[in-house]
Amino acid sequence: MKKIIAANWKLHKTKNEAGAFVETLKSFLSTEGRHLLGKVDTIICPSPTLMDHCGTLVQQSPVRIFSQNVSYAESGAFTGEISPAQILDSKCQGTLIAHSERRQFFGETDESALKRALCALKNNLDIIYCVGENLQERQNNQTESVLKRQISRLCTELLPQLSKPGSFMIAYEPVWAIGTSLVATEEQIVHAHDLIHQSIKNASSQKIPLLYGGSVKPENLKNIIGLKNVDGALVGGASLKIEAYIELLKVAAL
Ligand code: PGA
Repeated sequence: MKKIIAANWKLHKTKNEAGAFVETLKSFLSTEGRHLLGKVDTIICPSPTLMDHCGTLVQQSPVRIFSQNVSYAESGAFTGEISPAQILDSKCQGTLIAHSERRQFFGETDESALKRALCALKNNLDIIYCVGENLQERQNNQTESVLKRQISRLCTELLPQLSKPGSFMIAYEPVWAIGTSLVATEEQIVHAHDLIHQSIKNASSQKIPLLYGGSVKPENLKNIIGLKNVDGALVGGASLKIEAYIELLKVAAL
């Protein structure tokens, strides 16, 4: 199976910067990077104002553009939200859901995240659904119970409905490792991914790729990508520069 390298640009980049990045990536993937295409999938998650521009630029290319969030309503009085139809209209194919920054700063809960995911699924958007424990939970030995709680309703209410292989991905992102330069140890990653794998394996007939996220860089991806049940990475800081992103693709394809 191909590895997946998803770039989460968060609140970064203007239209010109995003355009230059995507143009360089496209040209790399059609020339010297062409051989990577059978081994690695590329996903970029820009801010809403950049989505249509990026979505237009990647037409006829293997690069996929995802939103960073999606509303749980299809339309209506929901100021500041973005609907599945608006995401598709921007030529994007999917969305992140429940990133820890949404949980931490914007009140995202397991309940609201599940509603978003059900709405996205109904509208044929691909999904990267984020889970992960914070530092206090890790220190209190609650990692297992937190992960189980975060995915339990997915298993009963969403995963059984999946019909398209690879359309639903889960990103394990320990909150204490995001943007901190602290990477989870190989043991911690294997343990969490195994737990998630065991929890979801009977819920869907489809393969559900599991991504690791949290201070991934070209230098540490090599070890992480080879771990059991790690199908890719969700990358913030190191995905902002095209040179580093291309390095990540090369490492993932090794
Ligand atoms: P980071 O962010 O790679 O900068 O740690 C990852 C993420 O938040 O998805």
